[in-house]
Amino acid sequence: MRDESSAIENAVHVLRGGGLVAFATETVYGLGADAESARGVASIYERKGRPADHPLIVHVASQASACYWANLGAVGCALAGAFWPGPLTLIALRNPSVARFACGKESTIGLRCPSHPLAQQLLHAFENSGGHGIAAPSANLFGRVSPTCAQHVREDFGEDLLVLDGGNAQIGLESTIVDISRGFASILRPGVIGPDQINDVLAARGLRLLDENRLPAQSAPKVSGSLAAHYAPRSPLTLTTSANLRASVAQLIANGRTVAVCSRDRPDGVVHWEQAADNPVDYGQRLYAMLRAFDQLPIDQIVVESPPSTPAWSAVLDRLQRAQTGSGR
Ligand code: TXA
Ligand code: MG
Repeated sequence: MRDESSAIENAVHVLRGGGLVAFATETVYGLGADAESARGVASIYERKGRPADHPLIVHVASQASACYWANLGAVGCALAGAFWPGPLTLIALRNPSVARFACGKESTIGLRCPSHPLAQQLLHAFENSGGHGIAAPSANLFGRVSPTCAQHVREDFGEDLLVLDGGNAQIGLESTIVDISRGFASILRPGVIGPDQINDVLAARGLRLLDENRLPAQSAPKVSGSLAAHYAPRSPLTLTTSANLRASVAQLIANGRTVAVCSRDRPDGVVHWEQAADNPVDYGQRLYAMLRAFDQLPIDQIVVESPPSTPAWSAVLDRLQRAQTGSGR
């Protein structure tokens, strides 16, 4: 307990000095800096190799702390009240007076209040020291697989980065991003909080979630997670229907390719195999660790059996499709 609180104290000291600290959240690990420190935020971009126009999410201890950065309005307050602390990011119109280092060139800001106890302790201690929020993207090199444990962070950034180790991420997929900056709610990045849950909260207040696919394309704020290529392993990854799985794996092996496969049943002749979880919660929790583990193997190709295309699987499917597009580069 004492060790933990001195680790938090030290982390706050580093952040307030403009340094970087990686920390556990319930979704994935974040690479944090004081959102009001130009130097801290600049080092995030530099260490991650992230393009300067991709804004960061600012993490806050509570809904009350979010109000420093933006007026959440009726839609934002309803969603924050229902899902914070938790795996939801709100894109809101930024208060014009706040530091905009973390916001790219946008007039909006991404805000998230994580529920992981370690992240909560860090944010409370940080705000008690006079800070207002910790800017943190996922703690991976740009375009690579997000980290779900401290070891993943060290693989990408080495041993000299301070990491607050909170064990394996409970969710394992990044937060659901909901844009509220246009006066209505719309999902920009799917996550474990799904459209039905969001709609229930809004409907109770006479509000409603709009489908981004039906809105004019140019109106959506930019989200780098919405690049088609993202969350990518180094080896080429192919998503295959259940019906085609056995034949395509057999063909690859016949062509002398070494494959790693994630599927419900083990295809013949496959050495590197991971059994696919039969539910999206367990699948999501394990997905990034699996992709990173496959990348450590001497393989030519990753083959993944497509999960069902039902709403419950949408966050998992979204990440797998982007991994397929970005893989092997
Ligand atoms: O679960 C999560 O959200 C994790 C943990 C660490 O909190 N964070 C995370 O951050 O996934 P990152 O930077 O890897 O992804 C955040 C996404 C990016 O695609 C970014 O472009 C988008 O949020 N974003 C942030 N602020 C935005 C804004 N003002 N307008 C539009 N998109 C924004
Ligand atoms: Mg990321």
